[in-house]
Amino acid sequence: MRLKDKVALITGGANGIGLATTQRFAREGAKVIMWDLTDQGNEVVEALKKEGCDAIFQKVSVTDEEAVLNAVEEAHKHFGRIDILINNAGITKDRTLLKMSRQEWDDVLAVNLTGVFNCTQAVAPIMKEQNYGRIISASSNVAIRGNFGQTNYVATKTAIIGMTKVWAMELGKFNITVNCIAPGFIYTAMTDKMPEEVKKQSIAQIPLGKWGYPDDVANGYLYLASDEASFVSGVCLTIDGGAAR
Ligand SMILES: NC(=O)c1ccc[n+]([C@@H]2O[C@H](COP(=O)([O-])OP(=O)(O)OC[C@H]3O[C@@H](n4cnc5c(N)ncnc54)[C@H](O)[C@@H]3O)[C@@H](O)[C@H]2O)c1
Repeated sequence: MRLKDKVALITGGANGIGLATTQRFAREGAKVIMWDLTDQGNEVVEALKKEGCDAIFQKVSVTDEEAVLNAVEEAHKHFGRIDILINNAGITKDRTLLKMSRQEWDDVLAVNLTGVFNCTQAVAPIMKEQNYGRIISASSNVAIRGNFGQTNYVATKTAIIGMTKVWAMELGKFNITVNCIAPGFIYTAMTDKMPEEVKKQSIAQIPLGKWGYPDDVANGYLYLASDEASFVSGVCLTIDGGAAR
């Protein structure tokens, strides 16, 4: 078990990559604090408990600073520590620059950028106190490549690479590593809504000739959260079948 007795907080854990990560971490021995907006989180955690895993669900939006602080305090009281933070929650609201509304811009920044800031700022003092921490956030390979119709999303995912480098510098002296992952096309609800034609074209740009699955990304989070990555900090791990340019 690669995460035995580690306490991991995973945001956006009820679906897709976050769900695969919650399940993988729990089965690797972690005690899991799972956050999401949807009550589905309860079912996920109940199923894990039946397997003997230790997990709690908290219905929290990462955009709500006060709710984030309260939930972190409650979870910290429950488990006594928080070793790993997975800033996984993210949304898309795609539109070309000429058509994007202020609301679409604000909504995506609130979850993907301010949400990551809120969670990291709430958990980092606990990690500092315990002189141990692993912080891993979801960027995307579009941060490196750009993507048509994703001004708001790409802005947030590029910022995550920058914040990761800053936080790796600032928090390293407290034995906290800070990294991010940059997935390419992964089969989840987020990508399910893409037009079929675009999905088909995307395969041609991937040297491995296929999309990835949530477990492919969960494996990346797991590596960076594990002791095997204890000397890795400030990096962005691309998981995209070779597509990033
Ligand atoms: N799927 C891909 O191809 C892909 C590629 C690159 C990066 N990513 C990133 O990986 C992460 C996970 O993506 P996914 O495809 O699994 O998405 P998904 O839409 O399948 O799941 C996202 C989860 O986050 C939750 N969520 C949304 N807003 C939230 C909020 N404010 N607070 C708490 N939870 C919230 C949703 O309820 C959902 O359960 C995202 O950050 C995404 O940007 C995904």
